[in-house]
Amino acid sequence: MRLIKYVFLLAVVFAALKVPGVLFAKPLPVSMLQMFFFFSAVVILLAMTATDEGAAGLVQPVISLFIDPSYTISRAVVIIIIPLIAAWITFAAVCDEAAAPPIVRSLHPSPPSAFTAYGRTIEMAGLANPYRAIEKTDEAAFRGLVLEGGKLYFKNCFFCHGAKLDGAGHFSQGLTPLPLPFKGTDTIAQLQESYVFWRIVKGGPGLPHEATPWLSAMPAWEKMMTEDEVWKTTLFIYDYTDNRSRSWAR
Ligand code: HEC
Repeated sequence: MRLIKYVFLLAVVFAALKVPGVLFAKPLPVSMLQMFFFFSAVVILLAMTATDEGAAGLVQPVISLFIDPSYTISRAVVIIIIPLIAAWITFAAVCDEAAAPPIVRSLHPSPPSAFTAYGRTIEMAGLANPYRAIEKTDEAAFRGLVLEGGKLYFKNCFFCHGAKLDGAGHFSQGLTPLPLPFKGTDTIAQLQESYVFWRIVKGGPGLPHEATPWLSAMPAWEKMMTEDEVWKTTLFIYDYTDNRSRSWAR
């Protein structure tokens, strides 16, 4: 009977800790709930086993269960149920772990100081979009260039980078790593236009060694687009997303 009383008290303590509004106004974090529950269980156990009769009353049913011949069936049930619970807990934990680990990669690896493309060596320092000058001097002509860039984007890039430049093109779900979005402030807004140019021209194959996992589907566009076309495309991806490239000036 004392054992039942003990279990009942534990249940009351657990309920009081678990249900918000009884002891605590807000739900307790699991780790705190475990800690409070553990100490409550120990304190109640100490109180109930303070006297010899109390201790005997609490332990006796457990001893009887294992040695008393009249408890054969209960014993069998307990002995079968405990391993089943353990197996279930293990199984649930294993299922949880079955998801693939997340892929860690450096999003913007540092670029080389120079690279070869279009039959010459291009220095990163000093590389700039030749069309940026027109932006301030001839608005209409600049709009025309952005429009051309848009057409190039939809001809070449949107399959992966998405019609809204959000990285969710219809090929994207099949790719690891995912195509990067240009929208938002995490990608091209953080970069210089020369960096974006380098990424487009050299693609996944041109990524430096530290840029694991080396299986980017980003094509190297140097063979399929002219330099001018790449620059126009970068005009478009910045313009459409309302992003400005990083520059030394700011
Ligand atoms: C076959 C799918 C595919 C196509 C087509 C594609 N890309 Fe990508 N692109 C990717 C993937 C995947 C990544 C991310 C992995 C990486 O950085 O290489 C990426 C990354 C980039 C990055 C790097 C962004 C950053 O923040 O570092 C730029 C810039 C880029 N793409 C521009 C373009 C442009 C412009 C086009 C069209 C001319 C294009 N991409 C076409 C798949 C593609």
